[in-house]
Amino acid sequence: MSAPRDAALAELAARFPPGRLVTGDRDRLEAYGRDESDLGTYPPDAAVLVEAAEEVRTVFEVATRHRVPVVPVAARSGKSGGSLAVRGGIAVSLERMNRILEIDGEDLVARVEPGVVTGVLQAEVEKHGLFYPPDPNSLDLCTIGGNVAENAGGPRALKYGVTREYVLGLTVVLPTGEILRTGHRSIKGVAGYDLTALLVGSEGTLGIVTEVLVKLLPRPRHVATALVAFASVADAARAVSRVLAQGVIPRCLELMDDVSLRAIARTSPGRFPAGAGALLLVETDGNDEEQVFAEIVRVGELVGAEAEGEVLVAQGEAQRREIWEIRKYLSVNLKAVHPHKLSEDIAVPRSRIPEMVARAKAVGQRLALDVATYGHAGDGNLHCNVMYDRPDQRPRVDEAVAEILRAAVDLGGTITGEHGVGLAKRAFLEYEQGAEAIALQRRLKAAFDPLGLLNPGKIFPAD
Ligand code: LAC
Ligand code: ZN
Repeated sequence: MSAPRDAALAELAARFPPGRLVTGDRDRLEAYGRDESDLGTYPPDAAVLVEAAEEVRTVFEVATRHRVPVVPVAARSGKSGGSLAVRGGIAVSLERMNRILEIDGEDLVARVEPGVVTGVLQAEVEKHGLFYPPDPNSLDLCTIGGNVAENAGGPRALKYGVTREYVLGLTVVLPTGEILRTGHRSIKGVAGYDLTALLVGSEGTLGIVTEVLVKLLPRPRHVATALVAFASVADAARAVSRVLAQGVIPRCLELMDDVSLRAIARTSPGRFPAGAGALLLVETDGNDEEQVFAEIVRVGELVGAEAEGEVLVAQGEAQRREIWEIRKYLSVNLKAVHPHKLSEDIAVPRSRIPEMVARAKAVGQRLALDVATYGHAGDGNLHCNVMYDRPDQRPRVDEAVAEILRAAVDLGGTITGEHGVGLAKRAFLEYEQGAEAIALQRRLKAAFDPLGLLNPGKIFPAD
């Protein structure tokens, strides 16, 4: 380790109790240097388990004095490498800041610390008859702070929108030491630049969030869930476009292709009709039970011409859970077939969903790789998973990923709909946004972080 790092660590040791500072323990530091991106391990030199905004400021003070990088981390469930300490330095772990500070049923807001697990917040607000819709698949593990950093989505984003739509305000510590409160407790508010919106999705590169004020909704009283089988993924993709074009917006419309189904069938046979080449998982919700049911029937009618067999509508909570388990454990099931996979999260305009699905499949066929496509088809956000068995296949995998990302942009979409650019996709940002937009974003970054110490090496192409 370099002398400035040694000096920074010595200063941290003087400022934080030993139980909240990790330095010599290789295993623990490596755990802080891994996520769900399959990009490798980048351990920080130290991890500080902060408990307050002022402590984050202390870390920035020390880091600034010694010119050492700082990286925010929490649950490390990210898929784009956003929390990896690619240049070492100090990891600021928000795991201890996991309190729900307030749930207010009158203002319909909750105030939380960033380390609160998303699923825990959802369960708590639901006890009050309230609803926090953003539901990334990792919600049992991921945290609100990580969701804010990545502007996370999930299946319900189709009807309810992504994390940014629910963040009213933030407390954020800037690398320069200011502790700012952005936003407002009112639903409306247009004063000044929308710093809250800029910070949401900034992937931990502009500041470290220490408190989040989120908007809540009344909890919808009824939910209906259905599973529809199709002969082919092309049929299913066309059905998605047809449903949306008819003005029906279910709360979720999830697609699983033939490669995904084969993986599921290996570990849990009999969960869907034999011979199905694709599945759609549909969910509607609202307060009027009959209307919720009528909507799911309507979706069934709209896809009927292309569907294979009956539409399976869940009877009761247990069956709903069973249907969702097919989707929830898909990633794990795919890994049982091929030990490695890169999970992309491209998004395309709705009218281009069938074409994008076809293109991803064609890339897999041309490069002789299994590509499983599944995900939030209703909003055009597809997880194209390029799977492989051995590290020596990696160049071909990277080629497949590059083609899939470029196809999404060519169809009018984006390289990332919910996981962020991070380390994984920074080489493709320019293809999507152009050099000028990147230059402007670099200037914004410099305004927040003039020394470039916060989460370096992320989002933007390598210098
Ligand atoms: C999902 C994650 C990969 O939707 O975003 O399963
Ligand atoms: Zn997803």
